[in-house]
Amino acid sequence: MQNIEDVKNNLLSQIAASDFPREILKSSELKKLYGAISSMPVEQRGIYGKSINDLKIVLESAVLTKETEAEDLSVEQIDITAPFDVNGGKIGLLSAENGSSHPLTTELENVINIFTRMGFEAIESRQIDDDNHMFGTLNFPDNHPARDGYDTFRTEEGFIPPAHTSTMQNRILKAGKAKLEADGQIAAVSYGRVFRNEDIDATHEHTFYQCEGVFVSSDATLGQMLGTLRSFFEVYYGQKLKIKTQPAYFPFVEPGLEFAIEKPVALGGKPGEWLEMLGCGMIHPNVLRSAGIDPEKYRGFAWGGGIDRLVMLKYGIEDIRHFESGKLAFLRKFV
Ligand code: DAH
Repeated sequence: MQNIEDVKNNLLSQIAASDFPREILKSSELKKLYGAISSMPVEQRGIYGKSINDLKIVLESAVLTKETEAEDLSVEQIDITAPFDVNGGKIGLLSAENGSSHPLTTELENVINIFTRMGFEAIESRQIDDDNHMFGTLNFPDNHPARDGYDTFRTEEGFIPPAHTSTMQNRILKAGKAKLEADGQIAAVSYGRVFRNEDIDATHEHTFYQCEGVFVSSDATLGQMLGTLRSFFEVYYGQKLKIKTQPAYFPFVEPGLEFAIEKPVALGGKPGEWLEMLGCGMIHPNVLRSAGIDPEKYRGFAWGGGIDRLVMLKYGIEDIRHFESGKLAFLRKFV
């Protein structure tokens, strides 16, 4: 009887540990217990046989329990919509290994938030465009050398992946004309990818991001533009900044300016170290005319600049190529 108790304990623990618990019922230890019946005095056989049958019932039920447990695991439902890693048994935000926002995406959202809070509508730019929006409506005369300043890619059909977000100006002006006449102003920013066929180095990429701003009213001024841009940069970098401008030529503005900020000391700058951030100016009458807006009644200002550069300064990123590199070591710094 002691032997039966030993076999029972042994087989129960084997069943608990096994992936195929039913196999344990074929154990030779069990067979031996049955085999022992025939060599036993007849009067003991009844009790002994009953003990073995009881043992068998206990083992069968342990096997069943174990099999049901395994089945439960295999049909456990996972929640594919869960924003948390509940399926892995861990509750908490997704780890970096499950993906995170690209720094340019995060910062573009910051930029757009600042402008929309100032009252600008935000419109995503497009990634394929035509000669008319890239140059024609922006007052670049045919064959004008200023066109060479943009190393545009071109498809065989003559389409252009935009080399600046200024391609959106004509669309913003046309779409806003009714609003201009009704409410007295157009205020919009357009953001997105731009492409240039140029040599690549630490400060030049073939693919980067820009944000363009357009404001039109009956009395827009250069002073309003400088105030808008100063506010934007001060909010974005979270501190007061020194700004300066210098004359620059862009066919779509007159006058045209380059806008610079003094590199913040907190970001490693020295006093007197200026960084050119964008191009801007008063919208050229021909650009307003190309959208059907009368330059005698309305005037506007526009600006456009790179997002990558903005973000590089904010985080001290030394090479623009990191952004499109897909390097995880770089991306993990922004989780
Ligand atoms: N599109 C110009 C560039 O990428 C930047 C620019 C200059 C945009 C002046 C403007 C502007 O809207 O008024 O080089």
